[in-house]
Amino acid sequence: MKKTKGIILAGGRGTRLFPLSKVYSKQLIAVYDKPMIYYPFATLLSMGIRDILIIADCAALDFYRKLFDDGSKLGVNIEYALQEQPNGIAEAFIIGEKFIGDSNVALILGDNIFYDETSSVFTKNIKTNKKAAIFAIYVDEPERYGVVKFDENDQPVDIIEKPKTFVSNYAVPGFYIYDSSVVSIAKSLTPSDRGELEITDINKYYLEHDELNIVKINSGVAWLDCGTPDSLLSAGNLIASIEKNKGIKLGCIEEAALNQKFINVEMLKKYIDELPNCDYKKYLETHLLKIK
Ligand code: TTP
Repeated sequence: MKKTKGIILAGGRGTRLFPLSKVYSKQLIAVYDKPMIYYPFATLLSMGIRDILIIADCAALDFYRKLFDDGSKLGVNIEYALQEQPNGIAEAFIIGEKFIGDSNVALILGDNIFYDETSSVFTKNIKTNKKAAIFAIYVDEPERYGVVKFDENDQPVDIIEKPKTFVSNYAVPGFYIYDSSVVSIAKSLTPSDRGELEITDINKYYLEHDELNIVKINSGVAWLDCGTPDSLLSAGNLIASIEKNKGIKLGCIEEAALNQKFINVEMLKKYIDELPNCDYKKYLETHLLKIK
């Protein structure tokens, strides 16, 4: 089976989070107790993905390098690439062409947080017999997203970006899995009316060629969008309440790396020793190293 590499797309305008996003990358803003990007990062790790490309704008790249370095302390490989302008999500595959090579690739948006209660919904679906897999999650305000249209037999027939009239309640979250032909598909796109290379056009291409697996998710996965001040606050509150109630941490990249055996306890111990004294360090010590 071909290897799957991961891309975290962490650029964008962040218009709806202005002025928070004026001088600061939106994906570095804290969602409760850790930077936003930790959550999608942990999602990729928990799927067994250990080659990761972080794409961001110029000002943010140095911060990401500071945060994750080359990833070796977590037993993963991290590369970085620049997106000069927010030219659209699909541009990630053109920027990432060399990184992707002939591997499969999972793209996750740096501001999309998933809480998968079973920790298996995504992993299960990475093994698809089609060339691409996306998810369709029930939402109350589908008009804000790319939305899947189903026929009377519940088969997907179209994907419509921000539909003006009701299509369905199933929106496509910012997490997509493709084979390496996504690079040439992305290169063949022309920018939309809003001047972006649209991820929806890539999904439509695979759908039209009967190569798109759309996994409908009705329950078990919470999808938190952090693009507005209200959704950012709600996400932080929800994460705080889950973490406190369950005594766990979501988006814990160190735990994901340990669970996947990317690192062993010795490596983790060394990593933790370098952290300043804080609640996060305490969690890693008590939960992962079992130090009381
Ligand atoms: P959006 O929410 O579509 O855009 P945005 O983050 O720029 O925010 P706003 O609408 O408030 O201006 O982007 C979704 C995610 O994709 C977000 O994490 C930013 C990222 N992104 C890029 O990195 N490059 C791009 O070219 C685009 C369009 C988005």
